[in-house]
Amino acid sequence: MKTFDYNIVLIGFMGTGKSTIARKLSYMHQMEVVEMDEEIVRRQGMSISDIFATHGEEYFRNLETELLRELQSKGGKVISCGGGAPLRAENVALMKQNGRVVLLTATPKTVYERVKNGKMRPILNGNMNVEYIASLMEKRREKYEAAADVMIATDGKAIWQICEELTRSLVE
Ligand code: S3P
Repeated sequence: MKTFDYNIVLIGFMGTGKSTIARKLSYMHQMEVVEMDEEIVRRQGMSISDIFATHGEEYFRNLETELLRELQSKGGKVISCGGGAPLRAENVALMKQNGRVVLLTATPKTVYERVKNGKMRPILNGNMNVEYIASLMEKRREKYEAAADVMIATDGKAIWQICEELTRSLVE
């Protein structure tokens, strides 16, 4: 299987499977994986929720931009972005410097089922329901789609199936 020399940048709403797919792709193609949220947590020494609570969302968004800038110096990585990363045009330009952007999608119901027990997503604090997820997803849709080079729907598909479809779309 082809190893990609550019970065595969996974974007999409919370719960669309970015982290899971990133790990599988990295295994399939022998590529390093960067989980942006995890890297930010490691560097700051606190959880995403604590970063939001202590410093505010803007501070977190700036950390995302800084990290994305750093990650463009070389290709060959799978980068799993936080759900809000493609909302800044500057971030999307960075993603495309050395990478192809893949948008993973899922219906609000699927997202809800995947994230409902999580406590680490401040954006959904107090709003953990399908209606809120649907409205936020709709608000973000245009930016997500504009950023994407490739779009993959994940509902009802197995991990290996999503990875194969994604790989095929990038190679074609
Ligand atoms: C966010 C998504 C989260 C995380 C932060 C904000 C968002 O990442 O970066 O809680 O605004 O959609 P995941 O998409 O990995 O959950």
